[in-house]
Amino acid sequence: MKVGIDRIGFYTSKWYVDMAKLAKARNEEPGKYLIGIGQSKQSVIPNSQDAVTMAANAADQIIDDRNRDQIDLVLFGTESGVDNSKSAAIYLQHLLQLRSNIQSVELKQACYAMTAGIQLAKDHVLAHPESKVLVIGSDIARYGLHSAGEPTQGGGAMAMIISANPKILTIEEPSAHYTADIMDFWRPLYATQAVVDGKYSSQEYIDFFDRTLTEYQAKTQTKLSDLQAIVFHLPYTKMGLKALKSVLSKTDDRHATQLLREFEYSRIFSREVGNLYTGSLYLSLLSLLVNSENLKSGQKIGLFSYGSGAEGEFYVTTLQPGFETAIGGDKVKHLLEDREELSITEYEAMFNSQMPLSADDFTTHTQIDSAKFYLAGQKDQQRQYQRRKV
Ligand code: HMG
Repeated sequence: MKVGIDRIGFYTSKWYVDMAKLAKARNEEPGKYLIGIGQSKQSVIPNSQDAVTMAANAADQIIDDRNRDQIDLVLFGTESGVDNSKSAAIYLQHLLQLRSNIQSVELKQACYAMTAGIQLAKDHVLAHPESKVLVIGSDIARYGLHSAGEPTQGGGAMAMIISANPKILTIEEPSAHYTADIMDFWRPLYATQAVVDGKYSSQEYIDFFDRTLTEYQAKTQTKLSDLQAIVFHLPYTKMGLKALKSVLSKTDDRHATQLLREFEYSRIFSREVGNLYTGSLYLSLLSLLVNSENLKSGQKIGLFSYGSGAEGEFYVTTLQPGFETAIGGDKVKHLLEDREELSITEYEAMFNSQMPLSADDFTTHTQIDSAKFYLAGQKDQQRQYQRRKV
């Protein structure tokens, strides 16, 4: 039985900051952010959006009356969780009006958690062929104003339906994994922003890519030239380019040029949004599917997933007939084109206006946010999630 990605949804906030202007404000050459980091714009997330509401806004695009009642499992990958006990998946299940007789669970392993969700969903569908699984990756990437990580912030959510006979991509067996206990990036319970050893994390990312790709090739006898494209987790788009360049000597010049060309398509959306953490690899996949003019059904796409701490996985997917009509590319383009630019002062004010980690009641700036699902604030220590009637 073929199992894989049947539908893909994406959401990010309607505000962004221009990276050339941010570079100037930080006394850096614009080239450092635009070329050296590889980012043109960065999504700025208002205090009326969190991991739950962004997930709901992404999932809302791929759930309708035909598939709503077939979803029997929700797997919510995030490292921006809103509670140490109650799963973000339960809030989501309620907001999306999914059935009650289903399983809903949150998964955590830094940016790797959505991939874990996809692979668990695949096994669930293999055991229950009628099932459809909703898999989420939703995060806000925050390092702090004036920090080295600031140009690699961002935020948003990816949502997928994993099912039998998928319309977009099948997920092939096997995968290659590599896990090691390293301190490249983490967020202690007392912190709202990540602690990161940026240079070390970038080296480890490439090492994990090399290890998982090598193991995958040894397990499957796959040659690089069997892959039409490789898509990467993109904490910043130059990171994926560095990893790709590290293996190009293993293929011929014509294929190396093809992989570089397809990579450029895969980084278009991330360049405009920044790091989504769990969802980043899948925004890069969506960008390739929407923007590349070279894709055909039957072609294979390699995926490299990396989550700090750290876990890496390399696996391969196969494009399905008619995938072009199933991806909904125009919606994504409109979402990105219709955003509003913030000045650096406005961005800093929005960044600093997040709901504090406190028991006090709080009201968010819902009047400026037109998204269908939003966080109205906190009352009596309970998060107040709302669905706008549109
Ligand atoms: P930095 O130290 O300020 O930057 O921070 P830099 O000095 O290394 O410069 C960056 C690049 O710009 C360099 O290129 C410069 O040469 C170039 P490279 O040597 O890397 O090829 N440059 C210029 N290029 C053109 N014109 C110019 C110019 N000036 C300089 N004028 C760093 C960079 C990425 C370290 C920082 O932003 C950071 O710490 N980011 C956060 C950590 C991160 O994203 N790590 C990635 C791997 S870990 C990961 O992917 C997991 C993660 O998503 C979390 C999770 O799993 O949950 C982060």
